[in-house]
Amino acid sequence: MPTETILITGALGQIGTELSTHLADVYGKQNIILTDLRQPENFETDLTFESLNVMDAKKLGILVDKYKVTQIYHLAAVLSASGEQDPLFAWQINMEGVLNVLGVGKEKNLNKIYYPSTIAVFGLDTPKTNTPQNTIMNPNTVYGISKLAGERWAEYYFKKYNLDVRSLRYPGIISYKTPPGGGTTDYAIDIFYHAAEEKKYECFLTENTQLPMMYMPDAIRATLELMESPAENIKVRSAYNLSAISFSPKEVTKAIQTHIPNFKVSYKPDFRQAIADSWPMSIDSSVATRDWGWNFEYTLEKMTEDMLVNLKNKVDFDNI
Ligand code: SER
Repeated sequence: MPTETILITGALGQIGTELSTHLADVYGKQNIILTDLRQPENFETDLTFESLNVMDAKKLGILVDKYKVTQIYHLAAVLSASGEQDPLFAWQINMEGVLNVLGVGKEKNLNKIYYPSTIAVFGLDTPKTNTPQNTIMNPNTVYGISKLAGERWAEYYFKKYNLDVRSLRYPGIISYKTPPGGGTTDYAIDIFYHAAEEKKYECFLTENTQLPMMYMPDAIRATLELMESPAENIKVRSAYNLSAISFSPKEVTKAIQTHIPNFKVSYKPDFRQAIADSWPMSIDSSVATRDWGWNFEYTLEKMTEDMLVNLKNKVDFDNI
């Protein structure tokens, strides 16, 4: 494999912390540059770290030159729930961020760009179940609007400048290593932490709110498989629908109760309910399967077991 040097934005986030380890395994530790707005705290890594605000195009360009970067994974973004607290700020970060990355990608002739999209690009007019790759979008959140605009820009840079940009519409991602920040699907992680720690949880969505979800190992594998596929196989240059499992708070509670029978959940929906209600319940990812062979591995049961084992170890460890 030719040497690639990969710069990751938002590298200290939920996906970045795990994806960076996998990229380091594939491309070598010396070839991975982590960047984030935050400084790493208690973050043990032997990977290179640079502080970067994605709105600072000049510094991004300097870092690309300094490390002879050949690929960027642009993970930094303000998610759905946080975005609604300060919509214009979310728009600025999300749009300036992607435009800066695409601009640097074009200017420095980078080999590849990864830009995650989301189920939030869909809205109330979208078919709710088995949502097709191409359908009515009409997103309602500033996060969804900015990601949909980003998808269009990604395709634009591919068609106009031949920049190899690739993207996935992630569902809610469940993981135990790094908590997410400010998403609507975050309940599906909080619920596991509460089950492992205190056996009760107050959920901010109603019990039957079904949303598309995925366990982190599947999300990482999807990302690497997409990025390693031959360019001619990647027919979708906006973003691929990506699916695994779909469940409601009630269903994940039941799955947890098979391991922790006395786990109790109460429901107190807040502003995030309207966001969740505007999103699909399940996604059709057959185009991803056709183009680059996507298939998920983790069912709700398999994920639940793995989450609880790992969280129990983590809770025990934190209490030492
Ligand atoms: N997990 C994201 C959110 O809830 C959706 O992509 O904002």
